Amino acid sequence: MLPPIVEIKPDVYFTGAFDPKIRTFDIIMKTANGSSYNSYVVRGSEGVAVMDTVKKEFSDDFFARLERVCEYDEIRYIVLHHLEPDHSGALIELMKRAPAAKLIISGRAVMMLKGIIKTDIEYELATTGTVISLGNKTIEFIMTPFLHWPDTMSSYLHEEKLLFSGDVFGSHYYDERLFDDLVGDFSYAFHYYYDHIMRPFKQYVLQALKLYEKFEIDLIAPLHGPILRSNPQGYIDKYARWSSEARFRKNEFGTKMLSVFYISSYENTHKMAEKITQGADEVEGIRASMYDLASLDESNMITLLEESDAILIGSPTINGDAVKPAWDLLSCMAYLERTGKIGATFGSYGWTGEAPEMLHERLKGLKFRLPLAPLKIKLIPTEEELKSCIEYGREVSEIAMGKMIEITL
Ligand code: FEO
Repeated sequence: MLPPIVEIKPDVYFTGAFDPKIRTFDIIMKTANGSSYNSYVVRGSEGVAVMDTVKKEFSDDFFARLERVCEYDEIRYIVLHHLEPDHSGALIELMKRAPAAKLIISGRAVMMLKGIIKTDIEYELATTGTVISLGNKTIEFIMTPFLHWPDTMSSYLHEEKLLFSGDVFGSHYYDERLFDDLVGDFSYAFHYYYDHIMRPFKQYVLQALKLYEKFEIDLIAPLHGPILRSNPQGYIDKYARWSSEARFRKNEFGTKMLSVFYISSYENTHKMAEKITQGADEVEGIRASMYDLASLDESNMITLLEESDAILIGSPTINGDAVKPAWDLLSCMAYLERTGKIGATFGSYGWTGEAPEMLHERLKGLKFRLPLAPLKIKLIPTEEELKSCIEYGREVSEIAMGKMIEITL
Protein backbone atom coordinates (compact mmCIF):
# COMPACT_ATOMS: atom_id res chain seq x y z
CA MET A 1 0.00 0.00 0.00
CA LEU A 2 1.30 3.44 -0.87
CA PRO A 3 2.06 5.70 2.09
CA PRO A 4 -0.13 8.80 2.41
CA ILE A 5 1.14 12.16 1.22
CA VAL A 6 1.55 14.39 4.27
CA GLU A 7 1.86 18.09 3.47
CA ILE A 8 3.05 19.98 6.54
CA LYS A 9 2.99 23.40 4.83
CA PRO A 10 2.25 24.34 1.22
CA ASP A 11 4.66 22.31 -0.93
CA VAL A 12 6.52 20.96 2.09
CA TYR A 13 6.09 17.23 2.74
CA PHE A 14 6.92 14.73 5.46
CA THR A 15 9.05 11.92 4.02
CA GLY A 16 10.27 10.34 7.24
CA ALA A 17 9.86 6.86 8.67
CA PHE A 18 8.24 5.52 11.82
CA ASP A 19 9.95 3.17 14.24
CA PRO A 20 7.25 2.13 16.71
CA LYS A 21 9.23 -0.78 18.14
CA ILE A 22 12.49 0.87 19.17
CA ARG A 23 12.89 0.77 22.98
CA THR A 24 16.43 2.07 23.49
CA PHE A 25 18.01 4.84 21.49
CA ASP A 26 21.73 5.68 21.36
CA ILE A 27 22.20 3.20 24.24
CA ILE A 28 21.32 5.82 26.88
CA MET A 29 17.72 6.69 26.11
CA LYS A 30 14.64 4.66 26.82
CA THR A 31 12.00 5.04 24.13
CA ALA A 32 8.79 3.67 25.57
CA ASN A 33 6.76 5.16 22.72
CA GLY A 34 9.09 4.30 19.85
CA SER A 35 10.34 7.09 17.61
CA SER A 36 10.41 8.50 14.11
CA TYR A 37 13.18 9.59 11.78
CA ASN A 38 11.80 12.73 10.23
CA SER A 39 12.72 13.84 6.76
CA TYR A 40 11.07 16.50 4.65
CA VAL A 41 10.84 17.61 1.05
CA VAL A 42 10.55 21.23 -0.01
CA ARG A 43 9.20 21.79 -3.49
CA GLY A 44 9.98 25.11 -5.17
CA SER A 45 9.23 26.48 -8.62
CA GLU A 46 12.80 25.60 -9.61
CA GLY A 47 13.37 22.25 -8.03
CA VAL A 48 13.23 20.22 -4.88
CA ALA A 49 15.29 20.00 -1.69
CA VAL A 50 15.32 16.88 0.50
CA MET A 51 15.90 17.76 4.13
CA ASP A 52 17.68 14.79 5.77
CA THR A 53 17.13 11.07 5.25
CA VAL A 54 16.40 8.26 7.73
CA LYS A 55 18.04 5.32 9.49
CA LYS A 56 19.26 2.85 6.89
CA GLU A 57 16.88 0.04 7.91
CA PHE A 58 13.97 2.37 7.15
CA SER A 59 15.16 3.42 3.69
CA ASP A 60 12.30 1.67 1.89
CA ASP A 61 9.72 3.69 3.82
CA PHE A 62 11.63 6.88 3.09
CA PHE A 63 11.92 6.26 -0.65
CA ALA A 64 8.27 5.20 -0.87
CA ARG A 65 7.21 8.54 0.63
CA LEU A 66 9.74 10.50 -1.40
CA GLU A 67 8.56 9.01 -4.68
CA ARG A 68 5.01 10.13 -3.90
CA VAL A 69 6.02 13.80 -3.82
CA CYS A 70 8.84 14.23 -6.35
CA GLU A 71 10.88 12.71 -9.16
CA TYR A 72 14.54 12.00 -8.48
CA ASP A 73 15.67 14.27 -11.31
CA GLU A 74 13.86 17.20 -9.71
CA ILE A 75 16.04 17.03 -6.58
CA ARG A 76 18.55 19.86 -6.63
CA TYR A 77 19.67 19.74 -3.01
CA ILE A 78 20.04 17.18 -0.27
CA VAL A 79 20.48 18.91 3.07
CA LEU A 80 21.91 16.96 5.99
CA HIS A 81 21.40 19.00 9.12
CA HIS A 82 23.15 16.32 11.16
CA LEU A 83 25.18 13.31 10.07
CA GLU A 84 24.26 10.81 12.76
CA PRO A 85 23.27 7.53 11.07
CA ASP A 86 19.61 7.84 12.03
CA HIS A 87 19.47 10.73 9.55
CA SER A 88 22.16 9.89 7.02
CA GLY A 89 21.34 6.19 6.59
CA ALA A 90 19.73 6.55 3.17
CA LEU A 91 22.11 9.21 1.85
CA ILE A 92 24.28 7.09 -0.40
CA GLU A 93 21.32 5.42 -2.03
CA LEU A 94 19.58 8.78 -2.47
CA MET A 95 22.67 10.23 -4.12
CA LYS A 96 22.73 7.27 -6.50
CA ARG A 97 19.11 7.84 -7.41
CA ALA A 98 19.45 11.63 -7.64
CA PRO A 99 22.97 12.08 -9.06
CA ALA A 100 22.47 15.73 -9.99
CA ALA A 101 21.60 16.76 -6.42
CA LYS A 102 24.10 18.80 -4.42
CA LEU A 103 24.74 17.65 -0.86
CA ILE A 104 24.81 20.49 1.67
CA ILE A 105 26.43 20.05 5.08
CA SER A 106 28.04 22.26 7.72
CA GLY A 107 31.79 22.83 7.85
CA ARG A 108 32.05 20.80 11.05
CA ALA A 109 30.42 17.85 9.30
CA VAL A 110 33.26 17.43 6.83
CA MET A 111 35.50 15.46 9.17
CA MET A 112 32.63 13.19 10.10
CA LEU A 113 31.28 12.63 6.62
CA LYS A 114 33.93 10.19 5.54
CA GLY A 115 33.82 8.36 8.87
CA ILE A 116 30.14 7.74 8.50
CA ILE A 117 29.67 7.39 4.76
CA LYS A 118 32.98 5.53 4.17
CA THR A 119 33.31 6.86 0.65
CA ASP A 120 34.28 10.09 -1.11
CA ILE A 121 31.34 12.21 -2.10
CA GLU A 122 30.94 15.78 -3.29
CA TYR A 123 29.41 18.33 -0.99
CA GLU A 124 28.89 22.07 -0.52
CA LEU A 125 29.27 23.84 2.78
CA ALA A 126 26.70 25.99 4.49
CA THR A 127 27.34 28.51 7.22
CA THR A 128 25.06 30.87 9.11
CA GLY A 129 23.43 33.09 6.53
CA THR A 130 24.03 30.82 3.53
CA VAL A 131 20.91 30.83 1.36
CA ILE A 132 19.72 28.44 -1.33
CA SER A 133 16.84 29.22 -3.64
CA LEU A 134 14.34 26.86 -5.21
CA GLY A 135 12.69 29.71 -7.12
CA ASN A 136 9.72 30.59 -4.97
CA LYS A 137 11.17 28.92 -1.88
CA THR A 138 14.20 30.23 0.01
CA ILE A 139 16.14 28.28 2.63
CA GLU A 140 18.58 30.01 4.99
CA PHE A 141 21.04 28.08 7.14
CA ILE A 142 21.79 28.60 10.82
CA MET A 143 24.75 26.91 12.47
CA THR A 144 23.72 25.30 15.76
CA PRO A 145 26.81 23.28 16.70
CA PHE A 146 26.81 20.71 19.50
CA LEU A 147 23.05 20.26 19.42
CA HIS A 148 23.94 17.57 19.95
CA TRP A 149 26.89 16.84 17.66
CA PRO A 150 29.47 19.37 16.48
CA ASP A 151 28.11 19.21 12.93
CA THR A 152 24.52 20.17 13.61
CA MET A 153 22.78 22.99 11.84
CA SER A 154 19.23 24.22 11.36
CA SER A 155 17.57 25.94 8.44
CA TYR A 156 14.67 28.29 7.92
CA LEU A 157 12.23 28.23 5.02
CA HIS A 158 11.34 31.89 4.69
CA GLU A 159 8.13 31.71 2.69
CA GLU A 160 6.53 29.26 5.14
CA LYS A 161 8.13 30.57 8.36
CA LEU A 162 9.28 27.01 8.96
CA LEU A 163 12.26 26.04 11.08
CA PHE A 164 14.00 22.75 10.27
CA SER A 165 15.58 22.39 13.67
CA GLY A 166 17.60 19.18 13.42
CA ASP A 167 17.51 17.18 16.65
CA VAL A 168 16.63 20.36 18.56
CA PHE A 169 13.01 20.25 19.77
CA GLY A 170 12.85 16.53 18.99
CA SER A 171 11.07 13.81 20.95
CA HIS A 172 11.32 10.07 20.76
CA TYR A 173 7.62 9.59 20.37
CA TYR A 174 6.00 7.55 17.64
CA ASP A 175 2.56 8.70 16.59
CA GLU A 176 1.48 8.72 12.96
CA ARG A 177 -0.91 11.58 13.60
CA LEU A 178 2.36 13.51 13.46
CA PHE A 179 1.35 17.04 14.50
CA ASP A 180 1.67 18.14 18.11
CA ASP A 181 -1.99 19.08 18.35
CA LEU A 182 -3.11 15.64 17.09
CA VAL A 183 -0.74 13.16 18.74
CA GLY A 184 -1.00 11.87 22.32
CA ASP A 185 0.55 13.67 25.26
CA PHE A 186 4.24 13.69 24.41
CA SER A 187 5.27 16.34 26.95
CA TYR A 188 7.28 13.87 29.02
CA ALA A 189 9.07 12.61 25.88
CA PHE A 190 9.90 16.18 24.84
CA HIS A 191 11.39 16.94 28.25
CA TYR A 192 13.16 13.56 28.51
CA TYR A 193 14.75 14.13 25.12
CA TYR A 194 15.95 17.56 26.17
CA ASP A 195 17.38 16.15 29.42
CA HIS A 196 19.31 13.38 27.72
CA ILE A 197 20.38 14.98 24.47
CA MET A 198 20.47 18.75 24.83
CA ARG A 199 21.04 19.37 28.54
CA PRO A 200 24.83 18.81 28.40
CA PHE A 201 24.97 21.59 25.82
CA LYS A 202 22.84 24.25 27.49
CA GLN A 203 25.09 27.11 26.51
CA TYR A 204 24.84 26.05 22.88
CA VAL A 205 21.07 25.77 23.21
CA LEU A 206 20.94 29.37 24.40
CA GLN A 207 23.18 30.45 21.51
CA ALA A 208 20.93 28.68 19.01
CA LEU A 209 17.81 30.23 20.49
CA LYS A 210 19.44 33.62 20.09
CA LEU A 211 20.02 32.90 16.39
CA TYR A 212 16.44 31.70 15.95
CA GLU A 213 15.15 34.99 17.38
CA LYS A 214 15.56 36.83 14.10
CA PHE A 215 13.04 34.50 12.44
CA GLU A 216 9.29 34.48 12.80
CA ILE A 217 8.58 30.80 13.39
CA ASP A 218 5.20 29.38 12.51
CA LEU A 219 6.14 25.69 12.51
CA ILE A 220 9.08 23.66 13.82
CA ALA A 221 10.01 20.50 11.93
CA PRO A 222 12.44 18.48 14.10
CA LEU A 223 14.21 15.24 13.21
CA HIS A 224 12.31 13.10 15.71
CA GLY A 225 8.76 12.98 16.95
CA PRO A 226 5.87 15.39 16.54
CA ILE A 227 5.97 18.37 14.23
CA LEU A 228 5.35 21.46 16.32
CA ARG A 229 2.74 23.75 14.83
CA SER A 230 0.63 24.80 17.80
CA ASN A 231 2.41 27.63 19.60
CA PRO A 232 6.02 26.94 18.49
CA GLN A 233 7.14 29.75 20.77
CA GLY A 234 5.95 27.69 23.73
CA TYR A 235 8.50 24.98 22.90
CA ILE A 236 11.21 27.57 22.40
CA ASP A 237 10.37 29.07 25.79
CA LYS A 238 10.65 25.64 27.42
CA TYR A 239 14.13 25.15 26.01
CA ALA A 240 15.10 28.63 27.16
CA ARG A 241 13.82 27.96 30.66
CA TRP A 242 15.42 24.53 31.01
CA SER A 243 18.72 25.84 29.72
CA SER A 244 18.79 28.69 32.24
CA GLU A 245 17.12 27.42 35.37
CA ALA A 246 20.07 25.80 37.20
CA ARG A 247 21.95 29.07 37.17
CA PHE A 248 18.90 30.89 38.47
CA ARG A 249 18.55 28.49 41.40
CA LYS A 250 22.16 28.97 42.34
CA ASN A 251 21.74 32.69 42.24
CA GLU A 252 18.87 32.42 44.71
CA PHE A 253 21.24 31.12 47.36
CA GLY A 254 24.09 33.38 46.37
CA THR A 255 26.58 30.68 47.30
CA LYS A 256 28.65 28.02 45.62
CA MET A 257 27.27 24.52 45.96
CA LEU A 258 29.47 21.71 47.22
CA SER A 259 28.03 18.20 47.32
CA VAL A 260 29.48 15.24 49.17
CA PHE A 261 28.20 11.93 47.79
CA TYR A 262 29.10 8.77 49.65
CA ILE A 263 28.29 5.11 50.04
CA SER A 264 29.40 3.21 53.10
CA SER A 265 29.47 -0.44 54.22
CA TYR A 266 30.48 -0.09 57.89
CA GLU A 267 29.89 3.62 58.54
CA ASN A 268 33.56 4.48 58.08
CA THR A 269 33.24 6.24 54.73
CA HIS A 270 30.05 7.80 56.10
CA LYS A 271 32.00 9.27 59.03
CA MET A 272 34.55 10.67 56.61
CA ALA A 273 31.74 12.21 54.54
CA GLU A 274 30.26 13.91 57.62
CA LYS A 275 33.53 15.48 58.62
CA ILE A 276 34.39 16.53 55.05
CA THR A 277 30.98 18.19 54.78
CA GLN A 278 31.48 19.90 58.13
CA GLY A 279 34.82 21.31 57.05
CA ALA A 280 33.54 22.33 53.64
CA ASP A 281 30.61 24.19 55.14
CA GLU A 282 32.85 26.27 57.39
CA VAL A 283 34.09 28.25 54.42
CA GLU A 284 32.14 31.41 53.76
CA GLY A 285 30.33 31.42 50.43
CA ILE A 286 29.95 27.64 50.32
CA ARG A 287 26.77 25.71 50.92
CA ALA A 288 27.80 22.10 51.59
CA SER A 289 25.42 19.15 51.50
CA MET A 290 25.83 15.41 51.95
CA TYR A 291 24.02 12.62 50.11
CA ASP A 292 23.92 8.87 50.70
CA LEU A 293 24.15 7.28 47.27
CA ALA A 294 22.25 4.25 48.56
CA SER A 295 19.05 6.33 48.51
CA LEU A 296 19.49 8.74 45.65
CA ASP A 297 17.71 8.16 42.37
CA GLU A 298 19.12 9.09 39.01
CA SER A 299 17.10 12.21 38.34
CA ASN A 300 18.13 13.68 41.69
CA MET A 301 21.75 12.74 41.02
CA ILE A 302 21.64 14.60 37.72
CA THR A 303 20.12 17.74 39.24
CA LEU A 304 22.56 17.78 42.16
CA LEU A 305 25.58 17.16 39.94
CA GLU A 306 24.48 19.91 37.63
CA GLU A 307 24.02 22.47 40.37
CA SER A 308 27.22 21.64 42.25
CA ASP A 309 30.37 23.64 41.73
CA ALA A 310 32.37 21.03 43.63
CA ILE A 311 31.68 17.32 43.96
CA LEU A 312 33.26 14.91 46.40
CA ILE A 313 32.66 11.20 46.04
CA GLY A 314 33.33 8.66 48.76
CA SER A 315 33.37 4.91 48.30
CA PRO A 316 34.80 1.96 50.17
CA THR A 317 36.94 -0.46 48.19
CA ILE A 318 35.34 -3.83 47.61
CA ASN A 319 37.18 -6.45 45.57
CA GLY A 320 39.62 -3.84 44.34
CA ASP A 321 36.95 -1.48 43.00
CA ALA A 322 34.67 1.38 43.94
CA VAL A 323 31.10 0.23 44.46
CA LYS A 324 28.36 0.42 41.87
CA PRO A 325 26.40 3.43 43.24
CA ALA A 326 29.56 5.55 42.91
CA TRP A 327 30.01 4.52 39.29
CA ASP A 328 26.31 5.05 38.66
CA LEU A 329 26.69 8.60 39.91
CA LEU A 330 29.53 9.26 37.51
CA SER A 331 27.66 7.72 34.60
CA CYS A 332 25.12 10.55 35.03
CA MET A 333 27.80 13.03 33.98
CA ALA A 334 27.11 11.97 30.39
CA TYR A 335 24.01 14.15 30.57
CA LEU A 336 25.72 17.24 31.93
CA GLU A 337 28.04 20.10 31.28
CA ARG A 338 31.06 19.78 33.54
CA THR A 339 33.27 22.65 32.53
CA GLY A 340 35.07 24.07 35.54
CA LYS A 341 33.64 21.73 38.15
CA ILE A 342 35.96 20.71 40.98
CA GLY A 343 36.17 17.08 42.04
CA ALA A 344 37.72 15.11 44.88
CA THR A 345 37.42 11.55 46.14
CA PHE A 346 37.76 9.72 49.42
CA GLY A 347 37.03 6.43 51.15
CA SER A 348 37.78 4.07 53.97
CA TYR A 349 39.31 0.73 53.03
CA GLY A 350 40.31 -2.58 54.53
CA TRP A 351 43.13 -4.00 52.40
CA THR A 352 44.18 -2.25 49.24
CA GLY A 353 42.00 0.86 48.94
CA GLU A 354 41.94 1.46 45.19
CA ALA A 355 38.45 3.01 45.04
CA PRO A 356 39.29 6.70 45.66
CA GLU A 357 42.09 6.61 43.07
CA MET A 358 39.88 4.88 40.53
CA LEU A 359 37.16 7.49 41.00
CA HIS A 360 39.79 10.22 40.81
CA GLU A 361 40.99 8.88 37.46
CA ARG A 362 37.45 8.75 36.16
CA LEU A 363 36.85 12.37 37.20
CA LYS A 364 40.06 13.29 35.43
CA GLY A 365 38.74 11.65 32.28
CA LEU A 366 35.58 13.69 32.66
CA LYS A 367 37.71 16.87 32.72
CA PHE A 368 37.02 17.84 36.31
CA ARG A 369 39.52 20.06 38.10
CA LEU A 370 41.17 17.81 40.69
CA PRO A 371 43.19 19.99 43.06
CA LEU A 372 43.75 17.40 45.79
CA ALA A 373 44.94 13.81 45.90
CA PRO A 374 42.32 11.26 47.03
CA LEU A 375 41.84 10.95 50.79
CA LYS A 376 42.12 7.36 52.02
CA ILE A 377 41.74 6.06 55.55
CA LYS A 378 42.34 2.49 56.63
CA LEU A 379 39.27 0.99 58.32
CA ILE A 380 37.90 3.03 61.26
CA PRO A 381 39.02 6.67 61.20
CA THR A 382 40.83 7.88 64.32
CA GLU A 383 40.08 11.28 65.86
CA GLU A 384 43.18 12.59 64.16
CA GLU A 385 42.11 11.22 60.81
CA LEU A 386 38.64 12.70 61.20
CA LYS A 387 40.30 16.07 61.74
CA SER A 388 42.13 15.54 58.46
CA CYS A 389 38.72 14.99 56.82
CA ILE A 390 37.51 18.35 58.15
CA GLU A 391 40.64 19.93 56.77
CA TYR A 392 40.17 18.18 53.43
CA GLY A 393 36.62 19.49 53.07
CA ARG A 394 37.73 22.98 54.05
CA GLU A 395 40.52 22.88 51.51
CA VAL A 396 38.20 21.88 48.64
CA SER A 397 35.81 24.69 49.61
CA GLU A 398 38.58 27.26 49.71
CA ILE A 399 39.72 26.20 46.26
CA ALA A 400 36.14 26.42 45.01
CA MET A 401 36.10 29.95 46.39
CA GLY A 402 39.17 30.84 44.40
CA LYS A 403 42.17 29.87 46.54
CA MET A 404 45.07 29.24 44.22
CA ILE A 405 46.69 25.84 44.37
CA GLU A 406 48.79 23.70 42.09
CA ILE A 407 46.43 21.26 40.41
CA THR A 408 47.20 17.58 40.98
CA LEU A 409 47.57 15.73 37.68
FE1 FEO B 1 18.68 12.02 15.76
FE2 FEO B 1 21.49 12.90 16.75
O1 FEO B 1 20.45 11.92 15.69
